[in-house]
Amino acid sequence: MPAAIRLVETPAAAFAEDVRAGLSKPQKELPCEYFYDDLGSALFEAITLLPEYGLTRADQRLVKRLAPKLPASYSVVAELGSGSGTKTRWILEALRPSAYFPIDISTAALARCQAELAPFAAVRPICSRYLDGLREVVQCRPRGTRLLLLFLGSTIGNFDVARRDEFLAEVRSLLSDGDGLLIGFDLVKPADMMIAAYDDPGGITAAFNLNLLARINRELGANFQLRNFAHEARYLAHHQRIEMHLRSRVDQCVEVPGAGVTCMLRRGETIWTESSHKVHLDQIPDIAGAFVFQRVWVDPEWPFAECLWTVDSAVLPA
Ligand code: AVI
Repeated sequence: MPAAIRLVETPAAAFAEDVRAGLSKPQKELPCEYFYDDLGSALFEAITLLPEYGLTRADQRLVKRLAPKLPASYSVVAELGSGSGTKTRWILEALRPSAYFPIDISTAALARCQAELAPFAAVRPICSRYLDGLREVVQCRPRGTRLLLLFLGSTIGNFDVARRDEFLAEVRSLLSDGDGLLIGFDLVKPADMMIAAYDDPGGITAAFNLNLLARINRELGANFQLRNFAHEARYLAHHQRIEMHLRSRVDQCVEVPGAGVTCMLRRGETIWTESSHKVHLDQIPDIAGAFVFQRVWVDPEWPFAECLWTVDSAVLPA
């Protein structure tokens, strides 16, 4: 019988508070982690199939290539933001771990992941934010095992730089000596290639971006008129990031009763919904901080890097 999905849920109050705080800033913003309700997760899966969005296919090719080279001593695998777990199959097939803990905030994605990966490991899904889920794994991982934590797909690029460093330090502090982190980074590439990846002609990424407003309508009783917003993707070279925004087409006033906020938008004003940072290969060792940098694999078709870092307590955090 499949293990029940453990719920370490984000309280609805946190969503409301984040929306209130974000819409009250001079540059209005909404945290991108809220893209991934069930509909948003399905739209993201569609993005990964777009010809313009080569990132996921590069990630998959690399994972397939590197899986047989991973040290066989990892007997437990956990994954931050597993989604439906498609590419993880190669790793589970190679390592045959005793347990696999996918951590995601979409119960629908976790259920699909569990159905797909059950033949390769005992799947123990955790529905939560990343760090809460990892704390849960740390509590229940069997003693004396070595854990391989996966953070694939360049999700780390969605953190701002300060938050990224803080997050990685926190992850490292939760891992034990001998554990590993397999982490993916999307690399800087020509700007037109990056922009096309985040502004596809079929409008799938636009729908993904707009769904955030639709979610606020559904869950917080807001009255965003989606047709009054245009999707926008831009590349800021000095920050090495793609930013996604929703640009107001008109002067408008939106009520969000569940967050206790009224949002006034001028025509042309934007709500900043996501940053997706890109890195140069030679920047990665610095990002690793106190992790020990073991190996890097780079995709020849779509510049993307998969890195294996390990925890060695002899290397103390700075
Ligand atoms: C999940 N994350 C790595 C994606 C990215 O490329 O930043 C999310 C995404 N946003 C728009 N398209 C895909």
